[in-house]
Amino acid sequence: MTATPAGAEALREQLLGRIRDVPDYPQPGVVFKDITPLLADPDAFNALVDALAVLCARHGATKVAGLEARGFILAAPAAARAHLGFVPVRKAGKLPGATLSQRYELEYGSAEIEVQQDALAPGDRVLVIDDVLATGGTAEASLELIRRTGAEVAGVAVLLELGFLKGRERLSTALAGAPLDALIIV
Ligand code: PRP
Ligand code: MG
Repeated sequence: MTATPAGAEALREQLLGRIRDVPDYPQPGVVFKDITPLLADPDAFNALVDALAVLCARHGATKVAGLEARGFILAAPAAARAHLGFVPVRKAGKLPGATLSQRYELEYGSAEIEVQQDALAPGDRVLVIDDVLATGGTAEASLELIRRTGAEVAGVAVLLELGFLKGRERLSTALAGAPLDALIIV
């Protein structure tokens, strides 16, 4: 991400122009934000990965955690570009060995995410990367999980924040002062 407001705005326009609204998906009344056109555009995808790697450096991250599934697509290349290790936070039952798990509430029902116990340790500073911040439930659970490993939270970075769902407010306690960066807020 460019440090100047003009650069940030140009990046925002470039990225937003490649995110497609899909009405009534996955259910009636929901407008799905489809990032696949952005991923298919090498210039836009590269600019996005650059911006996320800049945030890794800015916040002093030593590891990058990606949230399955769409978070992986952004977090893994950002970690590699920032020359940091990548840690997958997966949906329950997908990781071998000893894991820590965290359950969280969805609009209907609940979900569970996991991280390998030895993936993070005290002394690590972790930047969490995901594609979208909606209600904030997924990111909030990931922060709880990361802290339970003894690692420190460097921040949360997302491509797109859906401001009307108030995820930023929900996350504020779990962030405990760590930064939340959204490249686009709608
Ligand atoms: C989506 C999105 C974020 C999360 C945001 O993931 O990729 O991870 O929801 O919602 P929240 O802020 O309300 O928690 P989802 O689990 O739907 O699907 P995915 O496996 O395709 O990433
Ligand atoms: Mg997701």
